[in-house]
Amino acid sequence: MSRRIAVIAGDGVGPEVTAAALPVVEAAVAAGGGEPLAFDALPWGSRYYHEHGRMMPEDALERLAGYEAIFLGAIGSPEVPDHVTVWGVILPIRQSFGQYVNLRPARLLPGLTSPLRDRGPKDIDLVVVRENSEGEYADVGGRLHRGTLDEVAVQSSVFTRRGIERIVEYAFGLAERRPRRLLASATKSNSWAYAMTLWDEVVADVSVRHPDVAVAKYHVDALATRFVTAPDSLDVVVCSNLFGDILSDLAAGLVGSLGVAGSANLDPTRRHPSMFEPIHGSAPDIAGTGLANPFGAISAGSLMLEHLGLAEEAALLTRALERACERPETRTPDVGGTGTTASVAEALVSFVRAA
Ligand code: NAI
Ligand code: MG
Repeated sequence: MSRRIAVIAGDGVGPEVTAAALPVVEAAVAAGGGEPLAFDALPWGSRYYHEHGRMMPEDALERLAGYEAIFLGAIGSPEVPDHVTVWGVILPIRQSFGQYVNLRPARLLPGLTSPLRDRGPKDIDLVVVRENSEGEYADVGGRLHRGTLDEVAVQSSVFTRRGIERIVEYAFGLAERRPRRLLASATKSNSWAYAMTLWDEVVADVSVRHPDVAVAKYHVDALATRFVTAPDSLDVVVCSNLFGDILSDLAAGLVGSLGVAGSANLDPTRRHPSMFEPIHGSAPDIAGTGLANPFGAISAGSLMLEHLGLAEEAALLTRALERACERPETRTPDVGGTGTTASVAEALVSFVRAA
């Protein structure tokens, strides 16, 4: 019996990078000799919204619950407000399926040039561990007196001891498995004095259980500077939902482009399917041009294979990406290449097969 993967290609460049990435993922599974994955395309997103007035069908979550994993391209369209698209697909899946870990690795691949002068692959190899179920993206708030001069918007963050503890525990565990065993915690307890003092206390409590990990706490503003001035001092970085969203896009820029970074939304309990996606959005400015970099979607595919227990196949994808970085023809223009989404993906399939 093959493993069933739900595929929500979505909007803009989402379908383009998904169509490019899945054959590369399939080639890696085939090369490993494992049973093939079965991909079910679910045509949800902004076009579905235009036809049905919602981004996904009413029973979408029940349907998704039956899959081993979810692969997502990107969601968002200039014709639909972004809070409708994001709250119509991505956030309900992350929150309902207990995907409380958002793992966002950023490693400078050999062959790519960082915008940071004189920084090479040995300097940038970090993972942002972003809290993915509560915090600043808890759906709590409202708007009052809409459209009047007295209009009020309230947006509340929700931080729970349990929610912080489980993400921090995950981050320490990950740091323990990496050679440098460093953990940076992003805080802002100097001014965000309720939520982030709780955050800091939980980090201190959990650190006692992990004496092998060196933990440092940084205010998030200074940490943003550190990403640029001393990325080599960072290994695992644990953040709240909003801080992690911002710092991981920054990290993607440091390793060459938003287009190269993949991510995993994990339910570590495995009670629900986890979801894998590039960190970029639907990039309407380049949709349909063939310029979209498929590396991020393929990195997401690699994280998915790892999650499915196919570590060697996942490593094949990483090696193929490294090989693609060697020549401009097998990279897209955002990382100094001359290839297209499709031609780069074709090359990657052949690299996987030849490995
Ligand atoms: P974006 O990530 O789509 O694009 C930002 C910039 O990065 C653009 O200049 C774009 O061309 C470039 N870029 C993105 N992906 C690329 C790729 N694969 N290759 C080369 N260049 C790439 O972010 P933006 O513009 O803020 O949002 C566009 C839409 O995407 C909005 O509707 C937003 O809400 C949505 N969005 C969806 C996400 C998701 O589906 N997970 C995440 C972020 C944004
Ligand atoms: Mg983001």
